[in-house]
Amino acid sequence: MHAISRSVTSNQRGPHDALPRRVARALSHPWRKPIADHTRDAFARARDWFAAQDRPLILDAGCGVGLSSRELARRHPGHAVIGIDRSADRLARDHGELPDNALLVRADLVDFWRLALAEGWRPSHHYLLYPNPYPKASQLKLRWHGHSVFPTLLALGGRLELRSNWRVYVEEFALATAEAGLAAPAVGAFAPAGSYLTPFERKYAESGQPLWRLCLDLPHDPGLVPGP
Ligand SMILES: C[S@@+](CC[C@H](N)C(=O)[O-])C[C@H]1O[C@@H](n2cnc3c(N)ncnc32)[C@H](O)[C@@H]1O
Repeated sequence: MHAISRSVTSNQRGPHDALPRRVARALSHPWRKPIADHTRDAFARARDWFAAQDRPLILDAGCGVGLSSRELARRHPGHAVIGIDRSADRLARDHGELPDNALLVRADLVDFWRLALAEGWRPSHHYLLYPNPYPKASQLKLRWHGHSVFPTLLALGGRLELRSNWRVYVEEFALATAEAGLAAPAVGAFAPAGSYLTPFERKYAESGQPLWRLCLDLPHDPGLVPGP
């Protein structure tokens, strides 16, 4: 028996009018807030772990309880999977042993992505699975494509996969990549058909909600984030 989840309600009918402006601003004024010490420390531990892995990297950004990170590590035994989430509570839940090629890290993505780009990381895959939708129109700048860290996320490169139960979120993300001068990916309906990668995916699908996805092959391009 699983909780029934209601679909996202928003005062937005479609993509936000201010999206092109937000992306242009992020491209010219990257996020420069100082990096928190706890994320610097967490990144240093992740860097040491990854250096010892000697295999390509998969990032699971906003991994929640880390079930997706475990599953991705099983599906890609030749890769190193790092799941990142800021919630200590979610990361601490016991979902069994981690595969050797997976690591869960408590960190703020806004800082972690910047450190990863500065370190020269080039993930082969980057998953954004059911990010918080922040559905009020006034919350655009909290969505990843409306945030000033968006160019950093794109600059890391790799095959980026975004999934959401809110179509507008995925459509906006696609529009924002086009605003950043990259090819706009197609947004498609997605049916996991019983093979759920995350608890939120399971909850939404079992509540009968449609799910949406985009996949995007990004070049590694630190030049997207202008220097000081
Ligand atoms: C809706 S949940 C989805 C979790 C998981 N991907 C899933 O599908 O089950 C969004 C997750 O993103 C995390 N998150 C949101 N903003 C974050 C940030 N700035 N840094 C790290 N994690 C963040 C939250 O803690 C939460 O676990």
